Amino acid sequence: MCGIVGYIGHREACPILIKGLKRLEYRGYDSAGIALINKNKETNQFDLNIYKAKGKVADLEAMMANKDISGTLGIAHTRWATHGEPNQINAHPHFSEDKDIALVHNGIIENYATLKETLKQEGVEFSSTTDTEVLVQLISFLRKKFSLDLVAAIQLALTKVVGAYAIAVIEKSKPEVLVAARKSSPLVVGLGEDEFFLASDATPIIEYTKKVIYLEDEEIAILERGHDIKITDLKNVEIKHDVSELDLSIDAIEKGGYPHFMIKEIFEQPQTIKNCLSGRLHPESNSIILSGVMDNLSRFVNAKRIIIVACGTSWHAALIGEHLIEEFCRIPVEVEYASEFRYRNPVLSPDDIVIAISQSGETADTLAAMQLARHAGAFVFGICNAVGSSIARNTDAGAYIHVGPEIGVASTKAFSGQVTVLIMLALCLAKSKNTLSPKEIKEKIKQVSLLPQYIEETLKLNPIIEKIAKYFTYAHNCIYLGRGYNFPVALEGALKLKEISYIHAEGYPAAEMKHGPIALIDQDMPVIVIGTRNDMYEKVISNIQEVKSRQGRILGVISQGDTTLRDMLDYYLEVPKVPHFLDPIICSIPLQLLSYHVAVAKGKDVDQPRNLAKSVTVE
Ligand code: G6P
Repeated sequence: MCGIVGYIGHREACPILIKGLKRLEYRGYDSAGIALINKNKETNQFDLNIYKAKGKVADLEAMMANKDISGTLGIAHTRWATHGEPNQINAHPHFSEDKDIALVHNGIIENYATLKETLKQEGVEFSSTTDTEVLVQLISFLRKKFSLDLVAAIQLALTKVVGAYAIAVIEKSKPEVLVAARKSSPLVVGLGEDEFFLASDATPIIEYTKKVIYLEDEEIAILERGHDIKITDLKNVEIKHDVSELDLSIDAIEKGGYPHFMIKEIFEQPQTIKNCLSGRLHPESNSIILSGVMDNLSRFVNAKRIIIVACGTSWHAALIGEHLIEEFCRIPVEVEYASEFRYRNPVLSPDDIVIAISQSGETADTLAAMQLARHAGAFVFGICNAVGSSIARNTDAGAYIHVGPEIGVASTKAFSGQVTVLIMLALCLAKSKNTLSPKEIKEKIKQVSLLPQYIEETLKLNPIIEKIAKYFTYAHNCIYLGRGYNFPVALEGALKLKEISYIHAEGYPAAEMKHGPIALIDQDMPVIVIGTRNDMYEKVISNIQEVKSRQGRILGVISQGDTTLRDMLDYYLEVPKVPHFLDPIICSIPLQLLSYHVAVAKGKDVDQPRNLAKSVTVE
């Protein structure tokens, strides 16, 4: 969480930093701040100006009006609060007691309390309650105590820190250098002509340069005017890095005429799924080529067990993956919350395959779970969206979902991309293991190839959903019910509604309703049932009757032309009839649209819901 940006070069830093912060706002938006170094024309000395505001980047911009924002060196931050209330004092940048050094930080300094106590005993006074201030005060303290230069002080300070960090540091008396470092939080350096850019991801950099370097853990980048980038480890040993070329377009990170990123991303799905399938699914030759699986086929085919670790929406995709792999490949699958898995000393063997699913590729718990599995000798396969992300770089093999940057905090196109990759993985393995007949494989491949068309058709429901959404704005609670492949769809639908409209919602396997949630049902409790025509159809009808007889109002996502359910339901949304294993993608789309329209009708901040962040780089 938190986004950091830095710039050093020949242009004015402030506009670059502010624009960069806006691109990173999905990472947190509790407060924002900026530090700029410029030459004071009257005194001919360098000034370090720091501006901070509670709230969003727009609030920071407003408070900077009429302030001195000049300078060609600066760092900036948008915060998702971990330690310390989200107020102006706790906003980054933080600075040393003498106000010479400024620092922005993404991550958590776990031993901050001990370090703070030691520094206090040395007479250092603190102004905020954050863990971050401890780091900048420590750098300043060590710098003075041992007469170190800025880089050496940072290197020494970081050896004393336990936790995760991506930091950018500047010093008033050193207007020619910007220093950055990372451990377990992402950081990218952009290399321009006589200028350097720095950011938590590449989106603030893309319009200035395509040449980037992804820093690795415990690396320090020294970005100095008139010099090439220098990267060292904490012991000052120089490290050489390859320069990567960014494959990202500006259009992909702008709203493109849509009012919100979320709705843009929902409507992108026919194309994103096409991109995800492209070059991999070949209905003409009846083949699926997922190179990460093909290159390691014997490991997959001989796997005794597959464990999928993930968080949030990715965890819901994992539940669908479990169903797919068990049904198609007959390999036992377990799905784990990464945050639980990493701390419960799980039983792992070298015959296990651990699949880590993460849109951002930076989720701290998923990364840690995956690293634990690797240490235990398991083969780790990643399913990520963000190219070059930490999870993607730390797996044995993997498959990108190729859906382009997802900026709305509520995940939509990444979810459908994750499920699509899982479908291809399951089919690819089933083909190699002969657990499905050639005829079944052929038919399934054909159906998968039609997904973009099915999605296109489903999106036509948007105007009806917008109308229906109005009836849901007054709800305080909602229940989502589904069975089989549609149970994770119910979980995901409920999560979407919770995240952006703040209506309490629960997803349940439809039959479990009578073991508790049924007690909540009355005319004020909307129930959303995913009731497409599949093996469980009759059973779901019984569950619908149970709700109806308790005056529950029901919205059903049903198969096109299902007159039986049309007559039974208060509201219905008819989706194209697809095989049950494709339901999770097709049925999730109306639920994404529903939560979007409910949140818009309630006047909520759809793309940046309160308290959430898109990239959860703290545990
Ligand atoms: C956050 C986001 C969710 C996301 C989850 C896991 O909670 O708000 O949308 O599903 O993190 O993120 P990942 O990037 O690992 O998929």
